[in-house]
Amino acid sequence: MRATVLEGPRRVSVRDVPDPALPGPEGVVVAVEHTAICGSDLHLYHDAPTGTGIRLGHEAIGTVLEAGPRVRTAKPGDRVLVSGVIGCGVCGPCLAGQPNLCLAGKAAAFGTTPELPGGQAEAMAVPFADLFALPIPEGVSDEEAVLLTDILPTGYLGALRASIRPGATVVVVGLGPVGIMALQCASLFGPARILAVDMVPERLARAERLGAEPIDARMAPGSAQVLEATGGRGAECVIEAVGADATVADALACAATGGTVSIVGVNLSPAMAFPMGMVFLKSLTVRTVFAPVPGTWAALVPLVQSGRFHALADTFTHRMALDDAPEAYELFDSRADGVLKVLLAPKD
Ligand SMILES: NC(=O)c1ccc[n+]([C@@H]2O[C@H](COP(=O)([O-])OP(=O)(O)OC[C@H]3O[C@@H](n4cnc5c(N)ncnc54)[C@H](O)[C@@H]3O)[C@@H](O)[C@H]2O)c1
Ligand SMILES: [Zn+2]
Ligand SMILES: [Zn+2]
Repeated sequence: MRATVLEGPRRVSVRDVPDPALPGPEGVVVAVEHTAICGSDLHLYHDAPTGTGIRLGHEAIGTVLEAGPRVRTAKPGDRVLVSGVIGCGVCGPCLAGQPNLCLAGKAAAFGTTPELPGGQAEAMAVPFADLFALPIPEGVSDEEAVLLTDILPTGYLGALRASIRPGATVVVVGLGPVGIMALQCASLFGPARILAVDMVPERLARAERLGAEPIDARMAPGSAQVLEATGGRGAECVIEAVGADATVADALACAATGGTVSIVGVNLSPAMAFPMGMVFLKSLTVRTVFAPVPGTWAALVPLVQSGRFHALADTFTHRMALDDAPEAYELFDSRADGVLKVLLAPKD
């Protein structure tokens, strides 16, 4: 079958690889119909920290081709969406939908290690399918199903963990697909204002259409503009959705005394200079989360079905064939041509 493979920094290819095998009696093999590229894939794309040869992708939906004898929730022919993150499949947190907290230390995203080949492929193996693959619910479109594999849960947890109360001022730093999800989820909690920081004009305009006040970080640091817009106080709730050292620091600087900063951008930097004095003197609460995707479905599926998020389908600005993944990575990385997120289809 065809799969997207990381060949080195800024080099991906689509090539023939062995077909996936059933990953044990609790697993399924899924024929992928739609898959997407994530900002997390860009971290790997930029410097291949995990080495080369990784089969990429952790956002995929498709049809079950083969199911192990112990799978109860899906059978061959069923359409499923796959959690981007999985765990050991037997510990308490895994059973509770929080594989990120896996007690066996097996939390991992598809497409980041050789042991867990990714979903930017014609097919993928999904262990413990009852926990990590969800039959696509009625009233959920294919685009929405792809968003439920990772970035809508991530945006939701980013907002939930920012402790937004009705009337609060919220800042979202970074308006890529994850920030745009976080912005829409922040609205669920009734804030009075959402200030949205980025450097890409189309993304700032999109945030404004979604009801936020755009802040262009090319003009001056986002935090300086947030402080100006809040009479010097800063915001009670800040969501960081970039993952760079500079934006984590800027998100902390945006926060009001006593505020909460919820970081969902992936930052694995061992050397980031953390502004401890400022965090301490402002008595900030700082939270991070490596998305426990399945645990969010009970809240998010009804919200999607009810039409509460009206702009989800617009998230995908570009649709391309799986074989065009090298161009798709280049486009998403460049942030050119109004791109927000690229949907790939093996059969296009
Ligand atoms: N916590 C999780 O489980 C989880 C899940 C999915 C993605 N992520 C992470 O979320 C982050 C965002 O993902 P994405 O898909 O939206 O990626 P993206 O690269 O499309 O978005 C990043 C955005 O940040 C903006 N940005 C960069 N520097 C900035 C600055 N100095 N000031 C303001 N804005 C700036 C960019 O213009 C871009 O719009 C990534 O780090 C990704 O790894 C985390
Ligand atoms: Zn993702
Ligand atoms: Zn586990």
